[in-house]
Amino acid sequence: MRKVIMSFLKAAPLVLALLGVAAFAAPKAPASRHAGHGLDCVSCHGTAKKQAPVEMAKCLDCHDNQELATKTAKLNPRNPHDNRHYGVWGDCNMCHHEHKASENRCLGCHPRFTFKVP
Ligand code: HEC
Ligand code: HEC
Ligand code: HEC
Ligand code: HEC
Repeated sequence: MRKVIMSFLKAAPLVLALLGVAAFAAPKAPASRHAGHGLDCVSCHGTAKKQAPVEMAKCLDCHDNQELATKTAKLNPRNPHDNRHYGVWGDCNMCHHEHKASENRCLGCHPRFTFKVP
């Protein structure tokens, strides 16, 4: 019994600290990778009260897919911005994520395509 109490006492500060964080954390806007480039939420989501997922067409307002394809033409072993399946029209959101870590959507089928998606 003493052992159980002791281990509770040891863990208690940690438990309380975690509860404290949960209790006092204000609802937080999702981290946005473009914040570092001076964009705010409105630049992608517009002024709608409830933000909806952002379509590729919106990305193309600011990014030129053909230019991107030229820029990454030499990436090994294949160009992520111009390839057999999608040409230069691969949906940006397949690989790049705004609010969570990006992913390499090709890796599952092409283990050689080990590029890192920013
Ligand atoms: C560069 C464009 C871009 C910017 C800037 C941006 N978002 Fe997003 N947001 C997206 C995309 C794309 C999605 C779709 C899910 C994903 O890829 O994370 C999304 C999804 C969301 C969602 C979930 C919508 C749903 O119904 O699934 C919320 C909420 C959201 N964004 C809020 C914000 C807030 C708040 C900001 C400012 C801090 C912001 N976004 C800035 C592109 C953007
Ligand atoms: C209002 C203009 C604007 C929109 C809309 C926009 N971007 Fe950007 N984005 C920028 C700017 C400016 C930069 C910084 C300069 C650069 O790398 O081109 C940037 C950088 C990036 C980068 C470089 C990596 C990084 O994190 O720094 C990626 C990837 C990217 N954007 C993807 C997207 C995707 C995907 C969308 C659509 C969901 C999108 N952008 C919509 C303006 C925009
Ligand atoms: C198949 C996955 C994939 C798709 C789809 C994709 N990208 Fe990328 N993107 C990458 C990878 C991988 C890199 C890193 C290239 C490198 O290492 O030089 C990158 C780099 C970038 C960069 C930074 C380029 C620089 O200046 O170095 C931007 C901006 C970007 N992507 C925007 C987009 C936009 C906009 C779209 C949609 C039109 C898109 N990407 C579609 C995988 C993808
Ligand atoms: C669901 C599985 C699957 C995914 C995901 C996938 N591929 Fe493929 N890919 C294939 C198959 C199967 C082939 C062979 C058939 C063919 O050549 O069309 C292929 C062939 C290719 C080829 C031509 C052969 C070569 O090695 O040059 C390229 C380029 C390619 N894929 C690029 C990509 C890129 C870039 C991505 C990520 C956006 C991707 N693939 C995602 C299944 C996939």
